[in-house]
Amino acid sequence: MLACAPLGNDRQPRVRDNPLMEEFVTFLAELRPTIDRSLDRLLPTTAQAPARLHEAVRYSTLAGGKRIRPALVVLTGDVLGVPRDTVLPAGAALEMIHTYSLIHDDLPALDNDDLRRGRKTAHRKFDEATAILAGDALLTLGLTTLAAEPQTATGEQRRRAVEMVGRAIGSLGMIGGQVDDLAAEQDWPTDAPAALEAIHRRKTGELLVVSLRLAGIYADADTTTDHRLAALGERIGLMFQIADDILDVESTDNILGKTAGKDAAARKLTYPGLFGLADSKRMLEQTHNEALEIAHQLPSQGGLFPSLIHYLQARDR
Ligand code: IPE
Ligand code: IPE
Ligand code: MG
Ligand code: MG
Ligand code: MG
Repeated sequence: MLACAPLGNDRQPRVRDNPLMEEFVTFLAELRPTIDRSLDRLLPTTAQAPARLHEAVRYSTLAGGKRIRPALVVLTGDVLGVPRDTVLPAGAALEMIHTYSLIHDDLPALDNDDLRRGRKTAHRKFDEATAILAGDALLTLGLTTLAAEPQTATGEQRRRAVEMVGRAIGSLGMIGGQVDDLAAEQDWPTDAPAALEAIHRRKTGELLVVSLRLAGIYADADTTTDHRLAALGERIGLMFQIADDILDVESTDNILGKTAGKDAAARKLTYPGLFGLADSKRMLEQTHNEALEIAHQLPSQGGLFPSLIHYLQARDR
């Protein structure tokens, strides 16, 4: 069995001249081992056949990812009063689905990347067929986990969770965003600003939106709260991908654990590519302000959400 995150710790988020995000960074650092234990429990071991496939699944998942999506599930659960045991398997399920999306995003037919989470990408470490199938396995295990866990949830809550996440990551959501992201490499669409926002809202935003709304399902949250979670998740998703685009320009392979500077080389439609770095940062700031306003309307003034929102603006990896 692969050890958990041997390369991960030096790549975890750091507090960078912004004390407002310190609270979230500490929360994430403390939560990470629990998330990794949950993933370790739910993923098949390498003793189970097919061993090489399970090795690839564990290699990509138990690497140095930031674990933002499971952290969001737990953070939202804390705000809504859902016990951590209830939200953790759901968070792990989203991390599996996110890892699948990264493995496939890195394939030669998509972004063709060699480095991910500080390691060789799955298709470089193993082979292309194993990477494709490891992604398939993580996607299906993620959905199966949401159908089976948490055992404290009702059958109806689990059904709603599978349906909501399934819609978010399908062709009208994350996959649709990935398709348009790739198509835009060939030819930037006429209304590029609107197309760009639509790509980011789907390829990255949809999974982050459900990272908040899932806890709402287990909490039996009312419609007003669900709408606030969705609106906040949309701002968080957009912030996350604008920052990802900016970091691709400004950061390094070493800090990111993935190849920097690839977006411009691939003629990707990105915020800095379309608007320049300064305007991209202004748009990040504006989305940050909108997110803060929504977060304060949640129970407990949004708990750790304001700190998370500062982190999303200032993150360096
Ligand atoms: C990278 O996601 C891909 C995007 C959707 C922008 P993360 O930045 O969360 O990657 P990990 O999980 O930390 O590796
Ligand atoms: C990836 O977006 C989105 C999904 C995996 C769904 P990017 O292609 O920008 O992510 P990185 O920069 O490779 O992590
Ligand atoms: Mg991509
Ligand atoms: Mg990529
Ligand atoms: Mg990127």
